[in-house]
Amino acid sequence: MSEKAFVMIKPDGVKRGLIGEIVGRFERKGLQLVRAELMQLSSETARIHYGHLQSKPFFQELVDYITSGFVFAMIVEGKGAVKNARALIGPTNPAEAPPGTIRGDYGLDVEANIIHGSDSPDNAEREIKLFFRSESA
Ligand code: PPS
Repeated sequence: MSEKAFVMIKPDGVKRGLIGEIVGRFERKGLQLVRAELMQLSSETARIHYGHLQSKPFFQELVDYITSGFVFAMIVEGKGAVKNARALIGPTNPAEAPPGTIRGDYGLDVEANIIHGSDSPDNAEREIKLFFRSESA
């Protein structure tokens, strides 16, 4: 069954000119790009998006970072989109992400780790509605 996942290239990925490379990886895997927008997040949206991390010592730093430049927000669609997108992205910490994954190939830092992908279908739905208000998940 087809599923939608939310994926966001973070400010470091956008600044380094990696949008085309990353979109190509999703397309080659077979996930279809169905919506995308270059946007700058308000601090309010960032705080809602990362609300589950509010008690972490790095929360404010994370909000400052994610609002520091443009992000490229995307909806990708296909069979097992959430799981497959996470596999392409790799583990949160790029130092632990194997070569061949996006974070493993392009990242060094756990904060500036290039890309975010929803970790469950429920969160994908929540994030799609937050970033693309008119979209039905
Ligand atoms: S946790 O701590 O296990 O609940 O979090 P995790 O799922 O590993 O990471 C959630 C997001 O927080 C970011 N992160 C950090 N930012 C700044 N400093 C530190 N130390 C840090 N650790 C984790 C990380 O990039 C994750 O972002 P997303 O966008 O969810 O991938």
